[in-house]
Amino acid sequence: MRFPSFVVALLSLTLPLYAAEASGQPHLEKRGSATQLVVDGKPFLVLGAELHNSSSSSLDYMAPIWPKLAALPLNTVLTPLSWELVEPEEGKFDFTLLDGLLKQAREQHLKVVFLWLASWKNGMSSYPPVWVKRDTGRFPRVVTNGNEVEILSTLGKATLEADSKAFTAVMRHIKEVDASDHTVLMMQVENEVGVLGDTRDHSAIANRAFDSTVPSELTRYLVSNRQSLYPELRDLWEQNGAKTSGTWEQVFGASPRADEIFMAWNYARYVHAVAAAGKAAYNIPMYVNTWLAGEDTTPGDYPSGGPQPRVVDIWRAAGSVIDVYTPDIYQPNFAEWCRRYNRAGNPLFIPETNGGATGGANAFYAFGERAAIGVSPFGIDSWNDGENDLGKSYRILEQLSPLVLEHQAKGDIRGFVLDKSRPSVTFVLNGFQVQISLDEIFGFHTEQGFGLLMATGANEFLSAGKGFRVSFNPRTNGSERVGIASVDEGSFKDGQWVAGRRLNGDETDQGKYWRFDQRQINIEKASVYRFQ
Ligand code: DGJ
Repeated sequence: MRFPSFVVALLSLTLPLYAAEASGQPHLEKRGSATQLVVDGKPFLVLGAELHNSSSSSLDYMAPIWPKLAALPLNTVLTPLSWELVEPEEGKFDFTLLDGLLKQAREQHLKVVFLWLASWKNGMSSYPPVWVKRDTGRFPRVVTNGNEVEILSTLGKATLEADSKAFTAVMRHIKEVDASDHTVLMMQVENEVGVLGDTRDHSAIANRAFDSTVPSELTRYLVSNRQSLYPELRDLWEQNGAKTSGTWEQVFGASPRADEIFMAWNYARYVHAVAAAGKAAYNIPMYVNTWLAGEDTTPGDYPSGGPQPRVVDIWRAAGSVIDVYTPDIYQPNFAEWCRRYNRAGNPLFIPETNGGATGGANAFYAFGERAAIGVSPFGIDSWNDGENDLGKSYRILEQLSPLVLEHQAKGDIRGFVLDKSRPSVTFVLNGFQVQISLDEIFGFHTEQGFGLLMATGANEFLSAGKGFRVSFNPRTNGSERVGIASVDEGSFKDGQWVAGRRLNGDETDQGKYWRFDQRQINIEKASVYRFQ
């Protein structure tokens, strides 16, 4: 019996994974209550940022940028790598750029995540080599509103084969040059995929597929994962009778949602297949990123078929090669998007988001509250040195990384971002009810605060951030209360705690609160006690 090449590639992934763990190769690992990126046998927190799309196409352009990125300090740079520059002529691969980028990154002790800009980037197909672009017969395109557009169809067999071949060559080369260094941590496969300008591909081949029966792998997945399906998807399927067979419109109803689900299935099949081909050559974690839909938008206003939260299940039904589904969060409701992606076993990685002070604050939230693998604000190379608020956060997070990773796994760390619309949060940690509120003292009210808090021992806590204050309650009935025994600021040098001032008096509002004022990001340890 002959298996399709897609299946063979999938099967071949199992063995290399064990090899990966043994060799220290980057891989994802469930450690306690978190899924973490493990590199050289140790968990790794990605303090990252993404370059502008075209920066990494020139080594000369990049040369002065790398040292600035290292000084920020970043530990990982999300670096575009395009199909057109890797395979300018069919079958002739050029890895000069890839090798040069790795050399430059290593000189600055930086890690890299390559973004494979190939069949799609922001929905469109501007990154394939010109020999693909001009051959619209061999590499068919999407039809929207009656016209072929510059978007490669997911149903082009030759396109999938060509993209997979190129990606395999890339991964084989990375294995050759990086299997002992592990500079390359992960691969992003394609970029913000999905059809723009219409709810789905209306080419003849796509119309035929749309009028055919929904693949049984998908309906089986819906049945066996019914309880954990994203609620919006489950509701849609159930409202249409929870059918286990039928055409896409019969199973999901005649609406733009059915079109989006159809496109999600087809992009997912394609992207899993490209990723499987690459992983068969070198198996490191791979993810896809998402242009997020606005709340009241129609598929096609945003790329239809990309892994929006409501169709991540469709992607998962289509294959298990992609390890992480990730959001590009430029919208203000950062925490809500984190929640939508960090569910049903999907770890949180944020490949694109805002930088500056907002990005720096959100990083604390993502690592503390959502056990994120990493965060990566976009367009880092155009920021002025003076706008280094992200760096201020990263300098603290860099010191705390080992502790953050340890407590992510233990599940005893929380993160928060506070402002006037959400001035306080309350949760239980280490046996205490903890309230975190915007800081205020002597009538002065702070308007923004952020931080993370972890339980470091019985009655012991470590926290970092600014603009908030912490109070503890005992969680027992009766007259028991909690006092603050001590608060010390400090820092970590080579992993060792170096204590600074003992904070008392105004700094703790005369012992009433553990305060982090709004002037700078601090690291502090507190010890508390119970009394009547
Ligand atoms: C999201 C894309 O993924 C990036 O490549 C870039 O185009 C940014 N948008 C620009 O904001």
